[in-house]
Amino acid sequence: MAIIEVKNLKKKYGPPAGGLTAVDNISFEVNEGEVFGILGPNGAGKTTTLEMIEGLKGITSGQAFLDGHDVSKDTRTVKSLIGVQLQSSSFFEGLNLLELLETFGALYNRKVDAMELLREVQLEEKAKSQHKELSGGQKQRFSIAAALVNDPKVLFLDEPTTGLDPQARRNLWELITEINKKGKTVVLTTHYMDEAEILCDRIAVMDHAHIIALDTTQNLLKLPGLSTSIHFLVDKPLDIEQLKAITGVTSVQSEDHTYRLTTDNSEATLSDLFKLSREAGVKLVDLQLHQPTLEDVFLKLTGHGLRD
Ligand SMILES: Nc1ncnc2c1ncn2[C@@H]1O[C@H](COP(=O)(O)OP(=O)(O)OP(=O)(O)O)[C@@H](O)[C@H]1O
Ligand SMILES: [Mg+2]
Repeated sequence: MAIIEVKNLKKKYGPPAGGLTAVDNISFEVNEGEVFGILGPNGAGKTTTLEMIEGLKGITSGQAFLDGHDVSKDTRTVKSLIGVQLQSSSFFEGLNLLELLETFGALYNRKVDAMELLREVQLEEKAKSQHKELSGGQKQRFSIAAALVNDPKVLFLDEPTTGLDPQARRNLWELITEINKKGKTVVLTTHYMDEAEILCDRIAVMDHAHIIALDTTQNLLKLPGLSTSIHFLVDKPLDIEQLKAITGVTSVQSEDHTYRLTTDNSEATLSDLFKLSREAGVKLVDLQLHQPTLEDVFLKLTGHGLRD
């Protein structure tokens, strides 16, 4: 079931003539219970899209529905159903983490078990600390706890791991996965391919205000024209025709003692390749398998990389 429905959504900034169209007529649905990612480079329109759905930003044309409520008409209801990760700068000074969460709960007229929320984001030892005393990763986790005070159905995360070190990013991925497992729908934006690949059930790829692809992560990686390649070095030359005859192989390139095979069945190709080299008494060195990534998908779809 769709918990979010976006229909021909458009956002224009600036004067009607010559203004900038940040989001241009996009449509998509988010299913209840999934982790939905919006992936795209800087300026693609990701934040603008989220903020329109959250009811925080006016819609130029089109509609968005959250759990059946029109976000531009039933804004209050929508706000009660969603959790939005706040920018860290907006936290009051002088209150500790427990007090902050209780205060946010009061804003929603809710009594919250602040300690339980802190436990959920692994910050219970920091309960009596001030926000400014937290590390970058801890701040991000706290902002997620803050977004959960009203027990929302949908959690919105705008680039949740930007600026974090690899370990802190992985911790946050685990946290997001845990929250999702407990039944919350998660909508996040990112320009990290690995993040999208690991976390998201489905991904909308955005570029220049448009959605240029939307599918499950697995299907996006099966886009025609993307192939797996196998690279290796040899101590003695291998026969090109024999390599071409290997199961799954779609092309063979060789230069000096380096070979590059593309394949549509990497397992079968690898197994045949090992057999062939063993029989020919050839040693394979530095064997590498390159499987398509979302980076390749993006390049294929747009003709340019994610970062310019
Ligand atoms: N308040 C605003 N007024 C005018 N233009 C804006 C405003 N907010 C965003 N824009 C423009 O709209 C376009 C989309 O911006 P948006 O913030 O939605 O992109 P984004 O995909 O979130 O980018 P990033 O990855 O950098 O966060 C950009 O060209 C941006 O400059
Ligand atoms: Mg943004």
